Amino acid sequence: MSTEPREWDAGAYDELASPQSRWGLRILALLDLKGDETVLEAGCGTGRDTARLLDKLPRGRVIAVDGSAQMLDRLRNRLSGRLNRVDVVKVNLARPIELDTMVDVVFSVAAFHWIADHHALFKNLAAVMRPGAVLAADCGGRGNVAQVSAAIEKVSGVPAEAGIWNFADPQETHRLLEAAGFWNVDVQIHSEPASFEDDIQFERFLETVILGSHLARISEDERPAFVKAVAGLLPERQVDYVRLTMRGVR
Ligand SMILES: C[S@@+](CC[C@H](N)C(=O)[O-])C[C@H]1O[C@@H](n2cnc3c(N)ncnc32)[C@H](O)[C@@H]1O
Repeated sequence: MSTEPREWDAGAYDELASPQSRWGLRILALLDLKGDETVLEAGCGTGRDTARLLDKLPRGRVIAVDGSAQMLDRLRNRLSGRLNRVDVVKVNLARPIELDTMVDVVFSVAAFHWIADHHALFKNLAAVMRPGAVLAADCGGRGNVAQVSAAIEKVSGVPAEAGIWNFADPQETHRLLEAAGFWNVDVQIHSEPASFEDDIQFERFLETVILGSHLARISEDERPAFVKAVAGLLPERQVDYVRLTMRGVR
């Protein structure tokens, strides 16, 4: 797995990421915010959930971190009138995070499975959380996008997850969170397929949200055929998402 985060097409992502928007609401519902907390949003993307967090933090702030400059530019545009309560920082979550304050909450949606070493990730997060701080996060779990992965493997000849995704097992995640110093740990896994109305929408979603790292490995000319071939091998216009939901107290 590459140790450096890649760039994303942030404009297209924003138009398409409705499953992620639902997951954001699910993770927000796990938090009991008083309104004055400092929240670290890990892998904040284009800032959809940063805005939701700010709505719940009239006296608080968000430290929005991500590894993609394009995602962070989009976030700055989206939140241009509210940046007085947001610190926007380009960070690789696979490495120790340098902040000048400890945070009360870590919130994350659809980001952790892009990081190979969850032991290091959880330790990096724990190191910037004050004692009693809460972690609430979603990411792809064991079995996530298995049908899409099988199609990618057929088309490319190489395993789809290798070097790109880390779809973790709930028991292992529970163990790693405790090893990183979290208590009251709860980890759940559930299946949540997302369906698409037409081929154009489905292929755009695959291209932008799922296949970015696979497409980066081939030439630009080959990319449209790769996306079509993957979509064509799937039995339905559906992404077989399996989500891991985790909560723990530092
Ligand atoms: C699918 S997007 C999710 C974005 C946002 N949380 C949402 O729900 O729409 C995954 C995000 O994780 C970020 N990411 C992936 N690997 C990362 C890393 N090692 N460090 C920081 N951010 C990373 C990507 O840049 C991207 O913005």
